Amino acid sequence: MPSLHPLPSASVPGVLIAPSLLAADFTRLGEEVRLIEAGGADILHVDVMDGHFVPNLTLGPPLVESLRRISSLPFDVHLMLTNPERFVEPFARAGADHITVHVESAAPLPGVLDAIRAAGCTAGLSVKPGTPASAVLPYLDKVELVLVMTVEPGFGGQSFMADMLPKIRELRAAITASGRAVHLEVDGGVGPANAASVVSAGANMLVAGTSVFRSPAGASAAIRQLRGG
Ligand code: DX5
Ligand code: ZN
Repeated sequence: MPSLHPLPSASVPGVLIAPSLLAADFTRLGEEVRLIEAGGADILHVDVMDGHFVPNLTLGPPLVESLRRISSLPFDVHLMLTNPERFVEPFARAGADHITVHVESAAPLPGVLDAIRAAGCTAGLSVKPGTPASAVLPYLDKVELVLVMTVEPGFGGQSFMADMLPKIRELRAAITASGRAVHLEVDGGVGPANAASVVSAGANMLVAGTSVFRSPAGASAAIRQLRGG
């Protein structure tokens, strides 16, 4: 069954803002999601960690299922798991619209990408900071999104790695050359100080945890600022 809240098309120009749930106040998750939705967020980014692929644990399908009932945002589920293939169906059933897996995981490629699409979601492939852009190029025709990590995955609130900008440029060039509409998402330490450079390097989708949910100016102002307004 196709997802009910698909990601916006990658062929439409503009910057999409995907607040990361990880930085929300977990005592009032529903309100936090409503707040960013009303504040102009385009997508909800959901970080899933297994304590193995990364040294942290977060959340599972039941939480996605609960939030699905109160939000119509596209849910962008970022699986930081050694075996993400086991969780494609549970997250799709819970209400994920898009699922990204890591090229460094043990998942069979490209099989897991086909499984994500068969489950009704769009598919993404992510690279950790130490992994070159070339690792995802063989799979560009199998994905709707490429995710460049600009921190080591595992924790929110880390500093943006500016030395990832050339990788973003390289992937944007490869996407353009492919002729396909593929989102280029950047995740980790993104905030008002670096958003413009990330976008000018070629990203069209910004994940932002700390800089949105913990902004002193409020989520709505933070989202506007990230978008460049
Ligand atoms: C890190 C996660 C990110 C992170 C973003 O492993 O994938 O989504 O939580 O949070 P900030 O924006 O605080 O770096
Ligand atoms: Zn993430």
